[in-house]
Amino acid sequence: MMTEITVRELKTDHFIQNKVEEIKAAVGEGMAINALSGGVDSSTVTMLGHRALGNQLKTVFIDNGLMREGEPEQVVGFFRDLGVAVEIVDAEQDFFSALKGITDPEEKREAITQTFYRNVFGRIVKESGAKHLLQGTILTDVDETVAGIKRQHNVFEQLGIDPEEAFGYQIIEPLIQLRKDGVRVIGKALGLPSELFARIPFPGPALSARVIGEATPDRIETVRKATAIVERLLKDTGAFQYMGILHEDRVTGIRDGKRDFGQQIEVRCWESVDARTARPTALPYETLEKIAGDIIREVPGIVSVTYNIATKPPSTIEAV
Ligand code: XMP
Repeated sequence: MMTEITVRELKTDHFIQNKVEEIKAAVGEGMAINALSGGVDSSTVTMLGHRALGNQLKTVFIDNGLMREGEPEQVVGFFRDLGVAVEIVDAEQDFFSALKGITDPEEKREAITQTFYRNVFGRIVKESGAKHLLQGTILTDVDETVAGIKRQHNVFEQLGIDPEEAFGYQIIEPLIQLRKDGVRVIGKALGLPSELFARIPFPGPALSARVIGEATPDRIETVRKATAIVERLLKDTGAFQYMGILHEDRVTGIRDGKRDFGQQIEVRCWESVDARTARPTALPYETLEKIAGDIIREVPGIVSVTYNIATKPPSTIEAV
């Protein structure tokens, strides 16, 4: 059983020092690798890993084609400013071919997991000669996976999967005793700018977790546009997380005086501390109207915009 370190118990300097020692001891003289997505967890692990390993850590940003608008360049830019070189790996084709024809949520997650760890990472790890993968799994990921709620893409050992046997490398998870709030404290202490440590969470399966049904390049582009609008209009709310979700059902609409059997976007905005439970933000009606107006104007094919008012549980934060 993993013992939780709550944000109240967390001794920041002591935690960082301990983890730096642990990472050094595990990696020894070899090379390690980590994938940075720019989320709070992977950004914090990148800083921790670089403090422990310096040039023995190679950091890559895997462009899976499922990221938000401008995200790869933006994240790499932030880290360049922090003195950390990040290599962008173009893996769009790998992910879209793996996702082709898949509509079931758990199958979608499994396709992403396999593509990420086996194909793309397998390739990078082999090329670099690294024996270790450093990653930012947190306790909430483990809990939800073990409870069978959602298979988080980065959880293995707790499911009885040995990554060394399955993929040929070991996985080091320095944040696994923390929740999101604790990770933010560590990230800040390691020098991340607030744009990164206070960033809203974004799931490993990226925008494919926000497309109900098949995640095709077109459907991802639709949800990407909607997400950009939702993030632009809700960034000052202080909410825990907000997003657009593309539904699979179509509804009848009218455009230019003609019937348009169009698509629907669901907007979600959550209040939460640790993502285990959450409730929808009571957004002002004018804000909702503005979001709906902008989405309908700027996102082709959308004729309906709804706002989720159910709590987690029984809802979950992401839709897939
Ligand atoms: P859920 O949707 O399970 O999300 O309420 C809890 C928090 O974890 C973030 N997150 C993920 N969610 N699959 C997910 O469904 C993942 O692989 C994943 N990684 C992170 C999610 O955005 C929310 O903050």
